[in-house]
Amino acid sequence: MERLRELRDEAVAAFESAVSAAALESARVRHLGRKSEINQVSRGLKDLAEDERRAVGRAVNELKNELGALLAAAGDRIARAGASSGPGLDLTLPGRRPWVGRKHPVTRTFERLEGIFRTLGFEVALGPHVEDEFHNFEALNMPADHPARDMHDTFYIEGGKLLRTHTSPVQIRVMQSRPPPIRIIAPGRAYRNETPDASHASEFYQLEGLYVDRDVRIGELKGVLTKFLHELYGEDVGIRFRPGFFPFTEPSVEVDVECRICEGKGCSVCKGTGWVELLGAGMVDPRVFQAVGYDPDEVTGYAFGLGVDRIHMMMSGVDDIRLYHENDLRFLRQV
Ligand code: DAH
Repeated sequence: MERLRELRDEAVAAFESAVSAAALESARVRHLGRKSEINQVSRGLKDLAEDERRAVGRAVNELKNELGALLAAAGDRIARAGASSGPGLDLTLPGRRPWVGRKHPVTRTFERLEGIFRTLGFEVALGPHVEDEFHNFEALNMPADHPARDMHDTFYIEGGKLLRTHTSPVQIRVMQSRPPPIRIIAPGRAYRNETPDASHASEFYQLEGLYVDRDVRIGELKGVLTKFLHELYGEDVGIRFRPGFFPFTEPSVEVDVECRICEGKGCSVCKGTGWVELLGAGMVDPRVFQAVGYDPDEVTGYAFGLGVDRIHMMMSGVDDIRLYHENDLRFLRQV
C-alpha cells in the first residue's frame, strides 16, 4: 500500500508535467502500461492472501481510475495549448522581421530630382495626362505632317484627345497661363504605344524643365544641367553635350553621362559604349513662343526633358524598365 502511494505520486507528476502528446504517451506507457509497476501489482494479486487481496485490489482499481482521469485531463490541456499557439510553434526559431513599407523607387527619384531643382530656383508645375494635339504636338512645333510625330507612337482617344507622349505639353500650358519669367519643372507620367522591351515601357516617367526670361543663354542651360548631374552622380562624373534635334528647341543638345554601372568601361546597360543618354535639351524654338503668344524678340529660354526611370536605372543597375511598372514586391524590396 505504501508503494502504491509512491507510484501514484510519480504518475501524477509525470502526467501534469507533460507538454506534448508524445511526452504524455510515454508517461502513460511508463506508469500505466502493461509493464508498469502498477500493472505488476494487479497481476500479483492472485498470490496474496484473501483479505489482503481484497484491500490491495480495491486500492489498485481506484488508483487506475484516478490516474485514467488525470491522463485524460492532461491530454485535453495539451490539445488546447496546441490549438491556441498554432501548429509547430517553435520557440527556438529566429524571429520574423516585420516588413515596413517604403516609397516606390520612382517616387524617391522624383523627390530627389525635385529637391535639386528647387534649390536651383525651379517650382513644380503639373498638367493633364489626357492631352490634345495642340498642346502635345502643334504648339511644340510638330504640325500634323511633321516626321517627328512618328517617334511618338501615340495612344489616341475619342474626341481628338490623346495620352500625352511626353511632359513637354506642360511647358505650353504654363506659358499660356502667365507671362515670363518662368522657371518650372514638370514631373509626371507619359505614354507611348510601343512594344515593351527592357528599355521601353508603354508608360514611363519624365521630368520636364523650362526657364524663360530676357537674355537667357545656352551657357546657363549647360551650367544648370551640369550642376544637376553633379548633385545626382557626384562631381567626378563624366558628362558630354552632343548636338541633337528636337522640333521645339533650336539649337538642341543631348546630354550623356558616363555609365555609373561600369564606370565608363562598357557594359550591357550602356551597350558597351561607356555612356548613357539621360537628357534632351535646347533653347526654346521661337515658334513655340509664338504659339503661346510670347514675343520671340523679347524673350529667350531653355528647356530640357529627362527620363526618370532611366535616372534610377543608372543609379541602381536595374536593367529592365518594365520592372518599375509591375509592382512586384520581390523587385521593390530590393531597390
Ligand atoms: N519631350 C522630349 C521627349 O519626350 C524630351 C525633351 C527633349 C524635352 C528636349 C525638352 C527638350 O524640353 O528641350 O523625347
